[in-house]
Amino acid sequence: MLGTGVLSGAFPEAIEAQTPQAKIFGPSAAPIELTINGQRRSLSVQPRVTLLEALRDRLDLTGAKRVCDRASCGACTVIMDGSAVYSCSVLAIEAQGRSIQTVESLGSVTNLHPIQAAFVENDSQQCGFCTPGFVMACKALLDRHPNPTPDELRLGLGGNLCRCGTYVGMHKAIAQAAAARGGGGDKRGGGQREQNAPVLRLGAGGGSNG
Ligand code: FES
Ligand code: FES
Repeated sequence: MLGTGVLSGAFPEAIEAQTPQAKIFGPSAAPIELTINGQRRSLSVQPRVTLLEALRDRLDLTGAKRVCDRASCGACTVIMDGSAVYSCSVLAIEAQGRSIQTVESLGSVTNLHPIQAAFVENDSQQCGFCTPGFVMACKALLDRHPNPTPDELRLGLGGNLCRCGTYVGMHKAIAQAAAARGGGGDKRGGGQREQNAPVLRLGAGGGSNG
């Protein structure tokens, strides 16, 4: 008879037997492993710690900046599995098993990545606080669209804000970086790329923000 099993308690037990044991983290620190710029990094964090906090405060990777800390400005942008994401809105434990690329992987002061060089040559920064996030968003965009259309450019960088208003220079820089690539994709950089990966921002509600 329908419902008999539920009333007798047999049905919940059957469900319980079929449900895989959920792994519970926290509230105290738990060991995690992240793959950052091609390297496995082990650390111990509380579940509430964001990827941005883990990068900056635990791993000394301070390129990604904390500005709004709520998925609005893009200063914290990194590339995760080929897509630009707000690292302030991804928990470090969520980032396990993903390939994370930070601006530190692109170039050095004496050997700039072509995107970084294009930003410098086109005077695309003033205070520079937004620049690492823009560079990573730009890289994710060009990895997906080697020759972006104006609409693709607007969409790809739509999740990043520059309070100094250097957008004209940045757009010139991106055009220069795209031309330097010759549409052939990046030959440098340590992270994984998916040419067709969506450019998304993980923020409140998990939706795409450009
Ligand atoms: S710090 Fe502004 S989006 Fe993350
Ligand atoms: S250069 Fe100052 S916020 Fe963009």
